[in-house]
Parts: sequence; structure tokens; C-alpha cells
Amino acid sequence: MFKDIKEANLQDKTVLLRVDYNVPIQDNKILDDTKIKASLKTINYLLENNCRIIVLSHLGKIKSTKDKEKYSLEIVAKRLNELVNTQVIFSRYTRSPELDLKVKTLNPKEILVLENTRFEDYPNKLESNCDLELAEYWASLGDLFVMDAFATSHRRHASTYGIAKFIPSYLGFLVLEEEAMLNKYVLHPEGIFTIIVGGSKIDDKLELMQKLLPKCNYMLVTGGLANSCLKALGLNVGTSLATDDEEILQSIKEMLITYKNKISLPLDVIISKSYAEENVEVKNVNELDYEDYIGDIGPKTMRKYKGIIYGSDVIFLNGTCGIYEDKRFSNGTLELLEVLKESNKKVICGGGDALSAVKKFNHENDYTYLSTGGGATLDYIINEKMAIID
Ligand code: 3PG
Repeated sequence: MFKDIKEANLQDKTVLLRVDYNVPIQDNKILDDTKIKASLKTINYLLENNCRIIVLSHLGKIKSTKDKEKYSLEIVAKRLNELVNTQVIFSRYTRSPELDLKVKTLNPKEILVLENTRFEDYPNKLESNCDLELAEYWASLGDLFVMDAFATSHRRHASTYGIAKFIPSYLGFLVLEEEAMLNKYVLHPEGIFTIIVGGSKIDDKLELMQKLLPKCNYMLVTGGLANSCLKALGLNVGTSLATDDEEILQSIKEMLITYKNKISLPLDVIISKSYAEENVEVKNVNELDYEDYIGDIGPKTMRKYKGIIYGSDVIFLNGTCGIYEDKRFSNGTLELLEVLKESNKKVICGGGDALSAVKKFNHENDYTYLSTGGGATLDYIINEKMAIID
């Protein structure tokens, strides 16, 4: 269904380009424009081919009229206008006669950014439920479709999946690069392969861990996932974040037994007496009290993890050591990022939390590859293909 963009005859065409401009915005400012910059390779290629470009993207989730005020793509269109060598026009509509007219009067090498595709989600969830009438309407605006929203490739929505049912469709350069890098370094790594996995909820990550354990040599578990693992082994984790689901705890236990030679869990942790308590202390994982709250890994654990990192060839970073946003618990993550940098290994980072920490602590340039996907990256690794591909 989707072909490589390099196979497309793009000359003078009107192209619908689905990108992921779901960027963090605060007080009317874009906090991180990485995703916008990541789309430029495809945009510039289309411009070189004299295309008219119609950009589609979602931003946030739209469940009310209030959300529509909060999540307009106009600010993103303005940022794109600063990054490209052509005029970017913004349409307040996702579907209307005014929009049809704007498309008809678009000049070659001009870019038209449509309003947030998820505005079609309120009230009827047309975008997210992949309404085919909506997809057909969007498809009618262009000659062909280029899908470059890797970070949304796990969503079969009207603008990611539906449009491809109606017009010739291609994968953009970002999607192709993400696939190539994840295939090379995570699905088929060469040499000793270590995965650092963290995150708050194990329910979201258990499948990823089960998928990657047969492929890796070592898995270093951190964050809330580690708490659930310790709990599954019968240790007291106090008031720390951990699953209560007996079935999940049983699956974790089986996984820990099967892969006991690959999985490393924290030996010591940084705790506070209840989450609100200012003071923190280091404790061995078998010495926790019932009110203790785990926020980070301890120094013994870091030494052990560091040794494994230095003995690896390829590392996939998918999580942080703890609550890195909180100063009391940020040391582990900070040190881990430093260790990864100094190790000079091939390091691939993917998944929302890890990526945010890398950016917060200015470590972006240390990586072999930074995936733009959160859920999409994990979904790709688990299924070895994007959900938008039939
Ligand atoms: C992301 O930021 O992970 C993607 O844009 C997907 O967003 P969603 O989870 O709202 O679909």
C-alpha cells in the first residue's frame, strides 16, 4: 500500500503530507521543535519537486470545545514558516468550502497547514475512528499522500491510515530512517546488546520486555518497572509506585526466572519517607520500611549498571532511573546519561520519558539515534512493523 517516497513521481503534484507536530506547548510557546525539524527533509524534497504541500497533523487530544482553543496548530504553522524557504499558509479549517478554495489557489512550492486533524474528533471521533468519508475528503485535496508521522504510525486514524485507501501513498524520509535505525540497532543489533528499560507502569512495558529479552544480552531495569519486579519477587517496596495486579506480578515473576541471567534489578535505591518528605536516603532493596517511597536507583546499582554498559556494544535506552523531574531523585538519571556518553557505545534512545530526560539534561548530541516516537517506537519494536501498514 505504501511505497518509498523515492519511487514517487512528485513533479508539480499536490501532496498531502501527514507529519507529527504533536509538540509540547506552554504559555503559547513551543518548548521543543524537534518533531518540526525532523519533517524538513521530506518537506524540502517535495519543494525541490515543485510540489504544493498540504500538511496534516494532530496536536493533543480533542475531547471538548475548550481543547480546541488549547490545541490549535496555528503556532506550529508559524514555527514551520520560520524553518522553510517558502510561504506557509494556515487554514483554520479541517474541512470546508473555504479550505477547498485555498487548496485550489495554492501555488507550487507553497505549504498549507490544516488545522489540527483531531478537531474532527469532537464530537464524533471521526479522525481517531478512521472515518472513511473524512479520509476520502482529505484524499480528494491532493494527488498523492506522503506519510511521515512516525510518532503516530501506531494509530490507524483517518489522516494516517484512511487517506492511503484512496490515493497513491508513500513513506517519507523520517519514517524510512526510523524504520532503518530501529531495525539495525534494536531488532537486529550486532555484538553485545543491552537494554535499559524504565517507566512508571509495567503494564505498558511488559510486552516490550518479553519481546526484547530473547534478543538482548542484558536488560537493566529501572524506575517504576523495577519496583514492580522487586514486588514480584516478594520484596517490600513500601508506598512506591508498583502494580497490584496479581496476574501481572505472576507474569513478571516468570519472566524474571526465565531470564535471570539477563535481567538486572536495583540492588539499592534512593527513598524518602513518604513521597512528600524532603529528606532522602540510600537503602538496600531488602531493607525497605512500609512507608518508604522509591524515587531513584542507588550508587551500588549504578556501579553494576555502568559495568554492564561498558561491556556492551549497542545499548537501547528506553526509560530513566527514577523521577528525574524531581531534584531529590534526578541523580541516577543524570549519572546514567553521563555514563552512556562517556562509554562511546552505539546508543539508541526511544520512548517518551527517556527522550524527555535526554533533552532536559542537554544530552541530545550523545546518541547514535534518537527516535521521535514514544508509543509508536515501542509498538514498532513489538510488532516489527508500523500499525498503519496492512
Ligand atoms: C506522540 O506524541 O506520542 C504522538 O504524537 C502520538 O500522540 P497520541 O498518543 O496522542 O496519539
